[in-house]
Amino acid sequence: MTIPYSSSPSPFSPAAVTEVVAPPSGAAKPRLTFLGTGYLGATYAICFAELGYEVLGVDVDADKIAKLSAGEVPFHEPGLDLLLRQNLAAGRLRFGTSYEQAADFGDVHFICVGTPQQNDGMSADLTYVERAVTSLAGALTRKALIVGKSTVPAGTASWVQQLVGKHAAPELEVEVAWNPEFLQEGHAVEDVLRPNRLVFAYESPWAGGILYAAHKGVFDLAATEEREVPVVSCNFATAELVKMAANSFLATKISFINAMSEVCEVTGADVTLLARAIGYDPRIGQRYLQAGIGFGGGCLPKDIRAFQARVQELGAGESVRFLHEVDLINQRRRTRVLKLATQLLDRPFGPAGPDLSGTRIAVLGATFKPNTDDVRDAPSLAVTTLLHKAGADVHVYDPQGMDNARTVLPDVTYEPTLDAAVAGADLVCVLTEWGEFRNADPTGLGQLAAGKIVIDGRNCLDPALWIAAGWEYHGMGRS
Ligand SMILES: NC(=O)c1ccc[n+]([C@@H]2O[C@H](COP(=O)([O-])OP(=O)(O)OC[C@H]3O[C@@H](n4cnc5c(N)ncnc54)[C@H](O)[C@@H]3O)[C@@H](O)[C@H]2O)c1
Repeated sequence: MTIPYSSSPSPFSPAAVTEVVAPPSGAAKPRLTFLGTGYLGATYAICFAELGYEVLGVDVDADKIAKLSAGEVPFHEPGLDLLLRQNLAAGRLRFGTSYEQAADFGDVHFICVGTPQQNDGMSADLTYVERAVTSLAGALTRKALIVGKSTVPAGTASWVQQLVGKHAAPELEVEVAWNPEFLQEGHAVEDVLRPNRLVFAYESPWAGGILYAAHKGVFDLAATEEREVPVVSCNFATAELVKMAANSFLATKISFINAMSEVCEVTGADVTLLARAIGYDPRIGQRYLQAGIGFGGGCLPKDIRAFQARVQELGAGESVRFLHEVDLINQRRRTRVLKLATQLLDRPFGPAGPDLSGTRIAVLGATFKPNTDDVRDAPSLAVTTLLHKAGADVHVYDPQGMDNARTVLPDVTYEPTLDAAVAGADLVCVLTEWGEFRNADPTGLGQLAAGKIVIDGRNCLDPALWIAAGWEYHGMGRS
């Protein structure tokens, strides 16, 4: 039986493909390695061990590997700690720093290293991908499949094939596939075990067969729950673009509603009601229509920039020029809180910017979204930096992100509790929509604060409740 290669969506038939490919290691099912054990790779390594695979996670960061080996997830992701400990104990899951060990162990190697924005431009930095691929390819001693999961610009998969061609012995016939990733931090365990779709790009029946076998656990779990996991089989370029297109769409939706919130502010409209009203149209939908201080994190901002840079290189720059505007709207949101704070605290806005010296501001939230400790390109920290630079005495509290925030922004005060951050504050800014802030008691907090003024940078509080407790409430784009 052969697996058809097609560039259009194809249904998956697990029964048909599992008998096709015997893993080169001789194991009953493919042994998997995840190269790079950050937010993506560690979550995958742990969840795929949970699905019954033998897994090795590999990273160049020995501290991270030591923590994972000791049963400690080095970042906050709900539900992951327990799965890590259970699968270490079951003997299915190991971690290491050796590419020789990875090559010896694995049949399918997933590239999960970072692809950050380059320091001197908008393009993706592919150095980590290159190092991971060349280290692995040079260590391989038998046939294997190398699968790209990192988010990359168009053309990367073919370039990885060339790297493999240079560094792996040709008689091993090592192959490359691409399988872009859509997990959301804070919801990652569920997203990995129960993905809403899988995108597979491969160039031979063998590669397709072993890639399907490496995901059989996902399909089997879906079958026991009477679900289906749609699979889109496509060529390399499509797989690379799917991820960039998905993130561009989400970023555009967020910047759209944030642009509407700016219009709401000058017209006296309320963007939350506007979003609700347009979102009832199923063609638009309610999700990703929360106006606020914009998107951040380790993916959306760098991905829309890398996408623009790559498409420009390929000669179709005008097709994605709107993403520049999406980025500008998003950046503008970060200064909105600073301007509002200056106005509400009745402070001067001079030629060098606002002067907030002598004021104390509580910042609630440091992570780019709730249920993670990830502070990469977090709008909350960008706003905190602006408030601090303007001279305010800023006191930050976040349920999970304080350690990471401290390393990025050491110069502000971090408080151990929500109450401690709010105590004595002239102004409270809610910048990440953690449940702890949404459910906070405004009456109790009002007794701690020096000034009962709140900026709800995420439109996540109940204004009626806060106003009833005596607070002056200011949301984003709300009259
Ligand atoms: N975090 C997410 O929610 C998410 C979702 C979808 C896609 N992605 C994509 O996945 C990729 C990884 O993202 P992340 O958030 O996990 O990044 P991360 O920075 O948390 O993790 C990257 C890991 O790779 C390791 N690494 C670097 N060079 C290595 C090498 N040569 N060999 C082995 N390990 C090496 C680093 O030490 C680090 O632990 C990126 O391309 C990102 O865009 C991330």
